[in-house]
Amino acid sequence: MKAAFITQTGPPEVITVGDLPTPKPTRRQCLVKVAAVDVNPIDVYVRSGAIPAKLSFPFILGRDLAGTIVEAGASVKGFKAGDRVWATSQGFEGRQGTFAEFAAVDYRWLHPIPEGVSDEDIVALSLTGVTAQLGLVRNAGLKAGETLFVNGGSGGVGACVVQMAKILGARVIATAGTDQKVAACRDLGADQAVNYKTEDVVAAVKAFAPDGVNVWWENAREPDFDRTVALLAMRGRMVLMAGREARPPFPVGPFYVKDCSLHGFAMFNASAREQRAAANSINRWVAEGKLRARIDRVLPLSQAAEAHRLQEESTVQKTGALAGKLVLKP
Ligand SMILES: NC(=O)c1ccc[n+]([C@@H]2O[C@H](COP(=O)([O-])OP(=O)(O)OC[C@H]3O[C@@H](n4cnc5c(N)ncnc54)[C@H](OP(=O)(O)O)[C@@H]3O)[C@@H](O)[C@H]2O)c1
Repeated sequence: MKAAFITQTGPPEVITVGDLPTPKPTRRQCLVKVAAVDVNPIDVYVRSGAIPAKLSFPFILGRDLAGTIVEAGASVKGFKAGDRVWATSQGFEGRQGTFAEFAAVDYRWLHPIPEGVSDEDIVALSLTGVTAQLGLVRNAGLKAGETLFVNGGSGGVGACVVQMAKILGARVIATAGTDQKVAACRDLGADQAVNYKTEDVVAAVKAFAPDGVNVWWENAREPDFDRTVALLAMRGRMVLMAGREARPPFPVGPFYVKDCSLHGFAMFNASAREQRAAANSINRWVAEGKLRARIDRVLPLSQAAEAHRLQEESTVQKTGALAGKLVLKP
């Protein structure tokens, strides 16, 4: 089969698109004919070697897939050949990645694709959607009527946070780095959106939430705790899920006297069972037309290196050039 893989970490040029043996599914795995994959910042960190990861080479890139089961192992429950499925959290902890024509995936990581939903859309909502759902529901416990601020509301995760917070009944204020992305935040359902490069975010948040923000979702990798804690409501919660290198100062007094809490998490620590609950919500919301994918462009898998370069420039070098997810088709 064709696959996009690496035999060492390094710049996008280490990616080879070539032939590898088609995997043989174990008893608990399904062999999936992959129809679409997408790129996430974590793919870039793993490929470049920026974060330590146990990789067995040749290592197939990619965490997410959407496709159709062509073979189901004898112990697989709930899935059969011909079913359309999606998955995230592959390419991690010894599992091979998804950037290939076929992938063998343990059935516990598979979720059905709702009827009428495209492979491209569901794959673009997979890792980002599970992250947003877990952070909002399991970690921050967002409730209807609460106010949510999301720093970076049009990015991969941010676009899911905006939409899911609205679905959960919150009032949402979001930021973005261009006027087009501000408009995108509004289109996704944000009640208010602010350009963080040209507008006064603090003044906008104070006007939107005079009693403070209940849940603050931070997508930027350098959180400003002084600013955030000052804008949090009593018992406000802050979600932290980016910025491995960040070591910012922290205002201890102002934080604890308001009974605030910090919720750090990495979605890849969530078990298949925890992710299933998030996936069920995602499937329901997508089927109901309440959750939409935001896709920048669709490329052939042969352009995996170019896709990695684009993602790296946008997220790591902070050009913000992408306006949605990069989807690849084997
Ligand atoms: N812990 C986890 O489980 C988990 C899961 C997924 C992702 N992540 C991490 O979360 C981050 C976001 O992921 P993603 O897939 O959404 O990436 P992305 O699509 O590149 O989005 C990055 C977002 O951050 C915003 N941003 C960057 N600098 C900012 C600043 N100074 N002020 C306000 N907003 C700023 C961007 O806004 P503009 O584009 O408008 O500038 C954009 O909305 C990445 O660092 C990723 O590695 C963690």
